[in-house]
Amino acid sequence: MAPTRSMRSDLKGVMRAFRMGATWQLAQRTKDPERRMARIYSTIPSDYLFADNSMYLNYGYWDAGCTTLDDASEALAALLADAAGMTAGDDVLDVGFGFGEQDVLWARKWQPRRIVGLNVTPMQVAIAKQRAQDEQLTDVLDFRQGSATAMPLPDASFDRVLALECAFHFHPRTTFFQEAYRVLKPGGVLAVADIMPRSAAVPRTAIQSPPLVWVAVSFDDENWYPQDAYLDKLAAAGFTDLTTQSISEETFEPWRRHILAKIASPSFRHRVGPVYQRVLTKRWSDQEQLKKDFELLDYVVVTARKPGAGR
Ligand SMILES: C[S@@+](CC[C@H](N)C(=O)[O-])C[C@H]1O[C@@H](n2cnc3c(N)ncnc32)[C@H](O)[C@@H]1O
Repeated sequence: MAPTRSMRSDLKGVMRAFRMGATWQLAQRTKDPERRMARIYSTIPSDYLFADNSMYLNYGYWDAGCTTLDDASEALAALLADAAGMTAGDDVLDVGFGFGEQDVLWARKWQPRRIVGLNVTPMQVAIAKQRAQDEQLTDVLDFRQGSATAMPLPDASFDRVLALECAFHFHPRTTFFQEAYRVLKPGGVLAVADIMPRSAAVPRTAIQSPPLVWVAVSFDDENWYPQDAYLDKLAAAGFTDLTTQSISEETFEPWRRHILAKIASPSFRHRVGPVYQRVLTKRWSDQEQLKKDFELLDYVVVTARKPGAGR
């Protein structure tokens, strides 16, 4: 690809693309799963996201009124909070909080007493902490560096544990289930928005599309199982009252259409520069493969209750 004049002048974009590529290579070779995750997420700067006015990092829930990823991601966060039964005064734990965008939403609209966040990516923790200060929400939002599978938190201390599009990364997810159970108060609820294969017959290697390379690189090896096995594992951790809601139709395909148009848009090009836009355009060139891959995946909201008296 011969560099155009605009590409030559996009020095920042060239440096960014180079840095992201180098960090990505390093991340892929990192053996420790949590360090690998932190490195992978460090390759995604907060100003290079697909959302325009927020820092969500999820596929979104594209219900009737949504036309932007900001709206769809907010709708997904709202769906999860409602599924968890979040109410004013709750003690909430948000695991894998990204940049903490959903926590600002939950703090304002659901008014829990506090939200503790755990995340293994230091860059995201720092940005989320600053965000809590900017929003004057430090009395509610408590963002910490920490792991879903070794929570530095006391037993029976939360009414809700939420994990918005991240539990597939946890090493492994079953240890997260055990930890969530431990830190929940009796009667407390775990709610996750999670991704899994549609059936046990789908091998992880079947997912081939470049925009879904994260499935090969950051979907923990032990976490590749479909809904029925998922529920068995929750039950084995002690949870009852299990519910599932598949929202694949409202996530993958509308997200695919939206992002395809976004990458080609002048406003996105202006924001990320021509170099990164060219990288993405190439990565997104095989739409048929991407559609096929999405048909093999299920996007599910799962809830589970720790037995005992609730709030
Ligand atoms: C796809 S992002 C989702 C972020 C956010 N929930 C959202 O919807 O915008 C996954 C997040 O999980 C975090 N993560 C990955 N492994 C983790 C672990 N073992 N413990 C805690 N957080 C983890 C990543 O750092 C990242 O913030």
